[in-house]
Amino acid sequence: MQVAPSILSADFAHMEREVEWLNRSEADWLHFDVMDGSFVPNISFGFPVMASLKKAINKPFDVHLMVVRPEQWVDRLAQLGARMMTVHQEVSPNLHRTIQQIHEAGMLAGVAINPATPISVLEEVIKDIDLVLIMTVNPGFGGQKFISSMLDKVRRMKEMIVSRGGHALIECDGGVNLETGRQLKEAGVDILVTGNTAFKAPDPVEMVRQLKNL
Ligand code: DX5
Ligand code: ZN
Repeated sequence: MQVAPSILSADFAHMEREVEWLNRSEADWLHFDVMDGSFVPNISFGFPVMASLKKAINKPFDVHLMVVRPEQWVDRLAQLGARMMTVHQEVSPNLHRTIQQIHEAGMLAGVAINPATPISVLEEVIKDIDLVLIMTVNPGFGGQKFISSMLDKVRRMKEMIVSRGGHALIECDGGVNLETGRQLKEAGVDILVTGNTAFKAPDPVEMVRQLKNL
C-alpha cells in the first residue's frame, strides 16, 4: 500500500517538526491539498508554501487541486516540481486536453471525482490517466467522517480500469484510518491519503508504517 500524508492537517506553527517526521517516514508521497474557496468552501495554501516545502521534503508531491479552471496551473506546478497533478473532473470540461497538457509538462495526470460523481465520467479517458482519486469525503476539510458507500465505487472503478486495459492507480482521500484503510485495501485501493490519522497520531511515523502494511 502507498501512503500520501496530506499536509492540510499539519500544524503550520511547527512545520520543522512536521517536515522532520515526514522525511523520516515511509510515506510514498506528500499530498498537497490546494483549495480556492470557490470549488470547495475553504481556502488552504498555494505556490509559495509548495515552493518552500518542496525544498525541505524528500517525497514526490501529489498535488490535489480543488480549484476551478485547474488547467491554468499546469506550467506553474511543473516548474515547482510536482510529480502528480490531480484535477477534479467536475471543473474540467476539456478534461482530455488537460490530461494531455499535464503529460506534456512531464507530470503524471490524476483525475479526482467527488462522492456524488459517477465513475462513468472517466470512461473515455481511463486509459490516458495515471491516477483516479476517489473522494471518500466531500472535499474541503480534513478530519471528516469516511463515506462507506464509496467502497463499492472503488470496486467498480477497479473493474473499469482492468476491463479497459488502463494502468491508473486508485487513490482514496478523506476519513482514512486503520479500519477504513483496511476496507479500502480490500476494495482495491493503491494509495491512501491520510490527514488527521497521521498528523494527529502520537507517533506519525509508526502510523504511516501501519497504513503501509495494511
Ligand atoms: C479534503 C482533502 C483531504 C483531507 C484528508 O478535501 O482532499 O486530503 O485533507 O484529511 P483526513 O484524512 O483527515 O480526512
Ligand atoms: Zn486531498
